[in-house]
Amino acid sequence: MASSLFKFFTFLLLGFFFSLMTPTVNAKILRYKWEVKYQFKAPDCYRKLVIAINGKTPGPTILAQQNDTIIVELKNSLLTENVAIHWHGIRQIETPWSDGTEGVSQCPITPGDTFVYKFIVDRPGTYLYHAHYGMQREAGLYGSIRVSVPDGKTEPFTYDYDRSIILTDWWHQSTYEQATGLSSIPFKWVNEPQSLLIQGKGRFNCSLVTPSSSNISEICNASDPECGHYVLTVVPGKTYRLRIASLTSLSALNFEIEGHNMTVVEADGHYVEPFIIKDLHIYSGETYSVLVKADQDPSRNYWATTNVVSREPKTPTGLAIFNYYPNHPRNTPPTPPTTGPHWNDADIRLAQSRKIKSHKGYIHQPPLTSDRVIILLNTQNTINGYTRWSVNNVSFSLPHTPYLIALKENLTHVFDQTPPPETYDYANYDIYSKPNNTNASSTNSIYRLKFNSTVDIILQNANTMNPKNSETHPWHLHGHDFWVLGYGVGVFDPVNDPKKYNLVDPIMKNTVPVHPYGWTALRFRADNPGVWAFHCHIEAHYYLGMGVVFEEGVEKVGKLPSSIMGCGETKGLKGP
Ligand code: C2O
Ligand code: CU
Repeated sequence: MASSLFKFFTFLLLGFFFSLMTPTVNAKILRYKWEVKYQFKAPDCYRKLVIAINGKTPGPTILAQQNDTIIVELKNSLLTENVAIHWHGIRQIETPWSDGTEGVSQCPITPGDTFVYKFIVDRPGTYLYHAHYGMQREAGLYGSIRVSVPDGKTEPFTYDYDRSIILTDWWHQSTYEQATGLSSIPFKWVNEPQSLLIQGKGRFNCSLVTPSSSNISEICNASDPECGHYVLTVVPGKTYRLRIASLTSLSALNFEIEGHNMTVVEADGHYVEPFIIKDLHIYSGETYSVLVKADQDPSRNYWATTNVVSREPKTPTGLAIFNYYPNHPRNTPPTPPTTGPHWNDADIRLAQSRKIKSHKGYIHQPPLTSDRVIILLNTQNTINGYTRWSVNNVSFSLPHTPYLIALKENLTHVFDQTPPPETYDYANYDIYSKPNNTNASSTNSIYRLKFNSTVDIILQNANTMNPKNSETHPWHLHGHDFWVLGYGVGVFDPVNDPKKYNLVDPIMKNTVPVHPYGWTALRFRADNPGVWAFHCHIEAHYYLGMGVVFEEGVEKVGKLPSSIMGCGETKGLKGP
C-alpha cells in the first residue's frame, strides 16, 4: 500500500517536471546544408553572375518555431572568394560567434571551406539573412527567416495564410566594379539601380541593352522564365499575412497593393499597435508584417508595386501580380501600375515612422533613464581625396583581426584602443551645409559599453558633400533590439528633446531610419555579451565607413569556436 502510494506520488511529481520541460521538449533542431556558388541568372531578364544558395536567389526560407535551434552547414563554393552570412534580427544570445559579421564576429569563410552556424531563434517574428562580407549582399546572397509562435500560443491577430516577400534593388554591374569605383579617385558612384526586384523577380526593358556583336537575347531576354512578375495568388475573402522585408543596397522603398489596404501588425519581430495604410514605406534591413484581405472585385488581378522614395527615382516601378484565384496568374491587371507617393515628400515618411508603436498588450517597458548618450552625426567626408561616409567625421574601417577574437584573446595591438568620439560639436556645426572636412580621419576603434548599462544613441542627420542634400540612412544594430524613443526634425537638442521621448509605448526594432536633416533617438540595454556592429544598412555607405562597433561583457562570452579563426593575428589559433 505504502509503496504504491509512493509510486503514485513519484508519478505525479514526474508529470509535474515533464510539464515544466515541455517547451524545451518541443523545440526542434533544424539542419540545413547550403552551398554558396556563383551562377549565371537573369532575375530581371538581364543575365549576369549572381551568388546563389543551393542554386537559388533569394535563398531558401528558414521556417522555424520559437526556441528552435538552427544549424546551417555552409559550404563556400565561390572558388576564389570568401564569404560570411549574417542572421539579421537574431540576437545570438550566448552565441555571439554565430553572428556572421566578417571582421567583427568571425574570420571570412575561405573558398572550399564549410562553416557551421548554430544559434537559437528565441523570438517569433520576421527576420532575414544575408552576406556580410564586402558588398556581396547585393550579388543576391540573401533570404528570409520566419519564426512562428510555439504550438498552442496565439498572436494578437489572425490570418489565413502567411507569405514572405523580400524587396531588393538590382544592378547589372558586378559588385567588384562597384566596390572598385567607390574606392577610386575620382570617386565613381554606383548610381541608381537598373531594377527593383520583388521576391527576386523583376523585368528590365531589354530594348535598352546596347546591341553588340554578341547575341542580345543571350544577355537580355524578356521571355526568360527566370524573370518577370512575381505572382502572389490569393483566394477571394481570405486574409493574408505578408511578411514584407527590404534588403535593398541603396533604395528606400514604398510598397503598395492596388486597391487594398494593409494593416501593419509586426515590425522587426515586435507586435505593432495595428494601423491601416494604403502604402508602406520600408527601409533596407526592416521587416513588417501586414494583413491584407482579398476583398476586392475577384474577376480581375491587381498590381503590387514598389517605388523608390527619398532619392530621385531613375528606376522603373517594381511590379508583382496580386492574383485572385482562379484568374490566370499572367493576366495583367487592366489598370496602370501605381507610382507611389512623391519621392521627395519626407513629411509622409516621417509621419509613418512616428505611427509605429508597440502593441498595447506587448509593451516592453524601456528603462526611464540612460547611463550614457552617444550622438552620431551622419555625414560624408574625404580622406586623402577618397570619398567616405562617416559618423562624427570619423570613417570606420574593419581590422584584419575580428574584434570578438581580439578582445577575448587580449590582442590589444590589432585595433586602435582610443575610443571613437562620443558626440560632435552640436552647438557650432551647421547640419544644413556641405561639411568642410576634407581631411577627416578613419578609425577601427570601438565603443566599450558597461555590461547591463542603458545606452542612448542619437542619430543626427546632416548635409552630404553635395549641396542641399541629406540622405535617409537605415541603421541596424546587431545583437539587440532597441526602443525607438523619438524622431525629430533639425538639430537634436540634448536638453529639451529627451523630455518628449515616448517612454510609454515605444516600438522595439533592430533597424530604424534617420530622415534627411532629422534625428532619431534609440535606447538599448547592453546586456548581450559580445561584440556588435551598428551600421547604416546601405551597402555602399557601410563599405565606405558608415558604422560603429559596440563591445559589452566580452569577458562573459564562452569559449570561442576555433572555426571562426584563421585570419589576421588569429592564424595560429585555428588549430588543425
Ligand atoms: Cu543586415 Cu550588419 O546587417
Ligand atoms: Cu547610409
